[in-house]
Amino acid sequence: MTQALDQSANVSFRDEHPDLGDGRMAILAGLQLPQKQINPMWFYDEQGSELFDEITRLPEYYPTRTEVAILRRNRETISECCGEGCLLLEPGAGSSEKVRLLLDTLRPARYVPIDISAQFLKASALKLGQAYPWLRIDAVCADFNAGWDFLTALPSGKRVVFYPGSTLGNLEPDAARQFLASLRTVVGDDGGVLVGVDTHKEPSVLNAAYNDSKGVTAAFNLNLLSRLNTLLDADFDTRRFAHRAFYNEKQMRIEMHLVSLGAQDVRCGGVTLAFADGETIHTENSYKYTATTFRDLAVSAGLEVRKSWYDEDELFGVHYLQPQAF
Ligand code: AVJ
Repeated sequence: MTQALDQSANVSFRDEHPDLGDGRMAILAGLQLPQKQINPMWFYDEQGSELFDEITRLPEYYPTRTEVAILRRNRETISECCGEGCLLLEPGAGSSEKVRLLLDTLRPARYVPIDISAQFLKASALKLGQAYPWLRIDAVCADFNAGWDFLTALPSGKRVVFYPGSTLGNLEPDAARQFLASLRTVVGDDGGVLVGVDTHKEPSVLNAAYNDSKGVTAAFNLNLLSRLNTLLDADFDTRRFAHRAFYNEKQMRIEMHLVSLGAQDVRCGGVTLAFADGETIHTENSYKYTATTFRDLAVSAGLEVRKSWYDEDELFGVHYLQPQAF
């Protein structure tokens, strides 16, 4: 049910009560694969979200500040592509910070932030509604990975999905294609997708961005083990694992791992995980794209790149995708 928030006339909140199931079984299954792995979505507990925030301000971590500068500098042409009065949807909106850069020029008829964290979403939507009293905000707490049925309540109009932050880069190419294809269905024949994507570049620049000198990324990675200790009643000793991140040039992705320092057994979720010396848990992939590989990805999802915006060093790209013309 949609709930009008009495604190604010221009903000509504709808809770679809996303059923996230018991993620613990999935985590445990990943940790029992020959190459131990975990989905990077588990990074973002309160501590992890704070650490990520700190990462975005590090001198070596260029993506966030570069994307922000691209959005700020090009808001006029970006808004022309999206079209004034569109319905702007943002899956995984979080704090809705980046969208502020576009709102005054884009003037969407409605902004629909979608997130699985109800309390955070509600608070962010109210804050945004106060800063933009003219903007109608319909926040939806839902798991968009489980489908987009909740959009049926939306009025008609051109739909644009905003998906910044190179979040798409966390998906394997095949999953990224499927996700973009689902967005193509969501926005229909006349809609668009505005997506931020990190670019393939000089490995030394990429390696530095994920191996910062202050060790914040290492703390972010290692925080996963503390999270496992809580979630799965595990006994990981964070001092016996090390952060490792490197650019895999062949697959055009940053890989992050946690490396076992010595052979060790760890109790986790009722089982014993054996680690050989140097064995790793693969904690994240962050895919990078060239103009060509991203264009091919879009096309494979039934979309085409109408326009791209880059910074002068092409460290980061923002792309407006629209359904392929036949
Ligand atoms: C939020 C997925 C875009 O891949 O750069 C930052 C996460 N991991 N440092 C990224 C991250 C390590 C980030 N994304």
